[in-house]
Amino acid sequence: MSSEGQNLPSDAELAEMDRDQLVKLGTRLDGVELVDYPEPWPVKGTRAEKRAERMVALWFTIAGLAGLGFVVSLIWWPWQYKAPGESGTFLYSLYTPMLGITLGLTILGLGIGVILYTKRFVPNELAVQERNDGAGEGSAEIDKKTIVAQLEDAGSRSTIGRRSLVKRTVGLAGGALGLGGVALPVASFIKSPWKGKPEDTLWHTPWAPEYPGEPVYLRRYTGDSHTIDLVRPEDLDAGGMETVFPFHESERNDPERLAETFVRSDTPVMLIRLRPEDAARVIKRKGQEDFNFGEYYAYSKVCTHVGCPASLFEQRTNRILCPCHQSQFNALEYGKPIFGPATRALPQLPITVDAQGYLVARSDFIEPIGPAFWERKS
Ligand code: FES
Repeated sequence: MSSEGQNLPSDAELAEMDRDQLVKLGTRLDGVELVDYPEPWPVKGTRAEKRAERMVALWFTIAGLAGLGFVVSLIWWPWQYKAPGESGTFLYSLYTPMLGITLGLTILGLGIGVILYTKRFVPNELAVQERNDGAGEGSAEIDKKTIVAQLEDAGSRSTIGRRSLVKRTVGLAGGALGLGGVALPVASFIKSPWKGKPEDTLWHTPWAPEYPGEPVYLRRYTGDSHTIDLVRPEDLDAGGMETVFPFHESERNDPERLAETFVRSDTPVMLIRLRPEDAARVIKRKGQEDFNFGEYYAYSKVCTHVGCPASLFEQRTNRILCPCHQSQFNALEYGKPIFGPATRALPQLPITVDAQGYLVARSDFIEPIGPAFWERKS
């Protein structure tokens, strides 16, 4: 705003001016001419005006209720994993959709409410402004006063002050959204995912034998969770990769456990058969020199960055790729990260072949799989 070269009122005159006069003065100082400045609702209290107000309030109410629904879902919805067939599986499967639907509806409702209010109640003036090259000058007292008057005028003409229904509903929607914002980081401290589980849960996976010496077979998924298809070395071509899951003999007649291995997040393992020329170049990790079986190497499929499935194996470079944030791991060097945000190697599963020629795990992983957590050392 520039007041240079204009016929300006004195301080005393300025103090006497009401808001309308200050608004006009402010626009004149800006070189703006208000060609048309209509009241959105020249006749107060019409049915159309009330309908418009109710419509705005309706969207803010929807946003508020959806926001409360988000908080309730986040904290009270049964979110703990349930295997297929267990009671509560259906409610568990709705946890993530509920969060998405309620949060999406909150933001949508607020957005539509604000747009409707702006279209129906904020004056839609027509103004013409001269091009102003005086940008960058400091603000004089007169500029400050006229700007404040213009802002107050905009607020007043939008009639928000006398629309208590809109104010209450927008407060509900904003409050619910704010509550959701607070609940999001706090909720994880209210419910412990490890309640009722052994304290060392994070250190073990279903690859651990249930009794000393139990063979844990490498099993492939055929599309039918009840089919038991065990993996032999000759099933893989050189340079090939297959995802495998643990199988214990004790699961054979237990349909629930047979299916559970495919939906758990800590079971998938990448079984890789290196090409002979690549296998000759392998660098093994200290203490894990005998974890492979010949050209066969088994790595946890859970990315050590934030736990996505690192399931792409590039045969030409022997790199394992995680699609989430592009971490790359070198299959020729104990799954060591060589690109991207992951900083830890993919844990390697010790494997061998049993007397019947099936690939089996020799033990569980010797370190926790997946992303780091506070108590872990490796
Ligand atoms: S989860 Fe794999 S790179 Fe981020």
